[in-house]
Amino acid sequence: MPRRRKRDIIIKGFSKLLKEDKLKIVSELMDNQVETVELMKSFWHPDKHKQKIFDEFSENTISNFYIPYGVAPNVIINGKTYLVPMVIEESSVVAAASSAAKWWIDHGGFHAEVIDITKIGQLHFSWNGDIEKLRKVWDELQRAFRTATAGITANMDSRGGGITGFELLDMTDKIDNYYQIRVSFNTKDSMGANFINSCLEEFGQTLKSFVSIHPGFNDNEKEVTIIMAILSNYTPGCLVRSWVECNIDELCDLDDQLTGAQFAEKFKTAVEIAEVDPYRATTHNKGIFNGIDSVAIATGNDFRAIEAAGHTYASKEGRYKSLSHVEITDETFKFYLEIPLALGTVGGLTALHPLAKQSLEMLGKPSAEELMMIAATMGLANNFAAVRSLVTKGIQRGHMKMHLMNILNHFQATEEEKNLAIEYFKDRVVSFASVSEFLKETRLS
Ligand code: MEV
Repeated sequence: MPRRRKRDIIIKGFSKLLKEDKLKIVSELMDNQVETVELMKSFWHPDKHKQKIFDEFSENTISNFYIPYGVAPNVIINGKTYLVPMVIEESSVVAAASSAAKWWIDHGGFHAEVIDITKIGQLHFSWNGDIEKLRKVWDELQRAFRTATAGITANMDSRGGGITGFELLDMTDKIDNYYQIRVSFNTKDSMGANFINSCLEEFGQTLKSFVSIHPGFNDNEKEVTIIMAILSNYTPGCLVRSWVECNIDELCDLDDQLTGAQFAEKFKTAVEIAEVDPYRATTHNKGIFNGIDSVAIATGNDFRAIEAAGHTYASKEGRYKSLSHVEITDETFKFYLEIPLALGTVGGLTALHPLAKQSLEMLGKPSAEELMMIAATMGLANNFAAVRSLVTKGIQRGHMKMHLMNILNHFQATEEEKNLAIEYFKDRVVSFASVSEFLKETRLS
């Protein structure tokens, strides 16, 4: 029989315990009990009120997990200069975005536009009835939906948003008796998840009672089963475009070895590879999300939702592709990104997380549409910087410098040791072992 490990126990009632007690239980299951408590506690905020805010964001919290908060300065979008907060644990991302932003300052800056801001919610239901009968009462049903949710939508309506349309979809060719009501929403400056889901659940109740009492349906058709009511994170109607463009000759200073035209062609080919090869497309798009996610996190937005939508959008033609594209026409190089970004600047974490609030202030309190343009631009900036490095000097040189610093910090190197290491590893391969060896010898000598 395999030996039971210390951690192979079922903890009952964990969620109901106080934070201190949860931490105690967790630490008792670790080999280094005292150190675990000390470490976890060392990341608690000293101000109890601030810590409480974090504890209440999630459940079973025992500490905070820090991620660096960086800033990319000089990001010019549509002629306006932004100081963009970026929260990300990966080295080089903020540096890459900043260097792209710096280069584009003298080449027209970034441009961006919001194409649409429609979000989608879905009511999935089973019904054994004649769809034509439902179509006949469709206008009446939509009015019933609006009446039932008038209380929920009043505030959003007064801000110029709300429900913008209903669609009845017959999905019975895919699943027996399966129908869907697809609802579109304008949630203005909020991400709107709660608003959409509240409306959808109400539509579900309304549909059930509408069908059960309406004289247009026979006894067999009076029963609707609501399978689920939930927003869709695929938001192709909440779309933003960001782009840069310049004369091809201007690209000549991006590499010592390449003319502007050679750089443009090589860059275009690299992007085309991401359009035809899903392996490369995934990495290419990951680089775009480095920029977008870090802004999403800094502003308290749901980066998982954004990633999910982006990846689905990247597959909209039946194959996973690059989200960015290059056009070379006559003398002009144009690099653009089109992506769905359901972001909010009011409600949710944007107001509750003190640093999210601060980030939005740093950005000049943007509307959701402005934030969509900023986030897309940071995606484009990171993508430009990554592809630029890849087609010229390669990515590792810059990465290795940061990697070296991370390893040196791991070994708690002094400033003097760091300077010696930077010099030593200028033309040597950085690895955990080689840095460890270098420090050992330096410390012995
Ligand atoms: C690393 O986080 C992102 C890159 O791999 C993106 C790319 O390859 O385009 C550098």
